[in-house]
Amino acid sequence: METKSYATVKVEKEDGISWAILNRPEKRNAMSPQLHYDMLEALTELESDKETRVVVITGAGESWCAGQDLKEYFRALEKNPAEKRKAGWASQEWRWRKLYTFPKPTIAMVNGFCFGGAFTPLIACDFAIAADEAIFGLSEINWGIFPGGLVSRVLAESMTYRDAMYYIMTGDSFDGKKAAEMRLVTYSVPKAKLREETIKLANKLKQKNPAALKAAKEVYKACKTMDYWQAEELMSAKSAALAANDPERGREKGMKQFLDDKTYRPGLGHYDRNK
Ligand code: COA
Repeated sequence: METKSYATVKVEKEDGISWAILNRPEKRNAMSPQLHYDMLEALTELESDKETRVVVITGAGESWCAGQDLKEYFRALEKNPAEKRKAGWASQEWRWRKLYTFPKPTIAMVNGFCFGGAFTPLIACDFAIAADEAIFGLSEINWGIFPGGLVSRVLAESMTYRDAMYYIMTGDSFDGKKAAEMRLVTYSVPKAKLREETIKLANKLKQKNPAALKAAKEVYKACKTMDYWQAEELMSAKSAALAANDPERGREKGMKQFLDDKTYRPGLGHYDRNK
């Protein structure tokens, strides 16, 4: 296994899966300015790293991420507007823009606490697998603020109106099973099986054509805010771009293996990428 350590983040690479681990367990992986800078750098590197096929974001110790660091991100930056702006930009950049548009599949593996500002990267990831025992909470109201830093916006995308209003306004916490029931996460599993189940999903994604995966997530995510005419145009342009640029020529291979060779059925599985 290849590892790379930043001050507050560790990256472990194994079998095409890169694990970006928030690494401040003694602070429950609360997001300090340094953690924002480190995650931005780590993700930027993984974006174009040839060995990385799938990125998993998880936390060291018992917590996934306890949200923004109240001491280092909020209180300490109050009197430092220049640093506040820089850290604020890095925070939004990795948690939302970079992750939401990441060119490879992303999985949030929620191993423990997930509070407040942690909902932004949670929702930006394509998939989220939680431990049944994980504890989630929109705790902002409990300390006198509201879910900012894009959290309210991403909740509008990923929680029903009733669930969002309830948890934003009560600050009640809920476990991984409840998060799965509300479809805030893709599914939840007992904590003992969390890593194994995450690897299973990552391996499934590794079998698919990377260029098609990239286009598939980009198109779906971009379409959400478009009208039908714009969406039709986008899909037609993306489809032509994929056909022209896919190094694997997946579309042709897939059709040939189904229609001519009759070696597989697309409804039941993927084509042989090695043929
Ligand atoms: N910001 C700053 N420090 C934090 C933090 C946060 N969001 N979350 C945890 N920490 C720090 C604690 O201050 C403590 O530091 P210390 O050892 O120097 O005193 C350390 O992490 C351990 O926290 P502790 O509360 O003792 O751990 P716990 O396991 O009993 O509880 C939590 C864990 C996550 C339930 C609790 O720390 C908490 O409520 N954190 C705030 C969560 C939150 O509201 N986040 C939203 C921010 S947008």
